[in-house]
Amino acid sequence: MIKARAFPHHVCERYGLIWTCLGEPSADVARFDEWHDPNFMTVLAGPYHFKANGFRSLENFLDVSHFPFVHAAYNGVASKPDALNRYKVEMTERGLVSSEIRVMQPGGDARGVPIMSNYTFSVYRPLVGHFVKRIQDIDEKGSVVEGYDTHYATYCAVQPIDETHSTLWICGALDVKPAPAEKAVVDRYDVIFEQDRQIVETQKPERIPADLRYELHHWTDLMGQRYRRWLREMEVSYGTL
Ligand SMILES: [Fe+2]
Repeated sequence: MIKARAFPHHVCERYGLIWTCLGEPSADVARFDEWHDPNFMTVLAGPYHFKANGFRSLENFLDVSHFPFVHAAYNGVASKPDALNRYKVEMTERGLVSSEIRVMQPGGDARGVPIMSNYTFSVYRPLVGHFVKRIQDIDEKGSVVEGYDTHYATYCAVQPIDETHSTLWICGALDVKPAPAEKAVVDRYDVIFEQDRQIVETQKPERIPADLRYELHHWTDLMGQRYRRWLREMEVSYGTL
């Protein structure tokens, strides 16, 4: 009589995280190119536990329009929100990728100085997103200091605990100068994701509507719209409405 049985499954380590697949992987772990760049410092942050649906958590990660309101004094100015530029989202062989979205950020990285950030958002898997922002330092008048473009990339892997709870694992890679202390980078992620948690946990219905007719959308949410449509095309049903 068999009393115990082992079920082996695929495991690998990537970007400081352990990944597993209970079946046969249909693809490799989504790439995070900046992690391997020797000019970038890398950090792990979180995990952050959201009492929220995983797709809603990742959609929030891909959204730029909430910056001045949810992350005031860090990623935007509440009293003077940026007028966002019209941007595009394309489906590539790696997943959905946006064109650059430009925003002024009074404290957009761990140095705590005003910057212009040019965001490119990507979503490579239903629960893995990425952004890289091309950073331009600005002077006291708000003018861009030419020739000093640096980068700040964040890779967000969302682990669904169930349909209404998720855990966010965050990998960061940046080449801003002067390089901030690792603790300063992690502390800033802690602040930002706590602000996000408080908002995402209020969203109702808890499961994300993949059909765009059920919530009000705006062109500034284009990345989220395309994300939801992609979930619908893939016929993702767990955690969606
Ligand atoms: Fe946010």
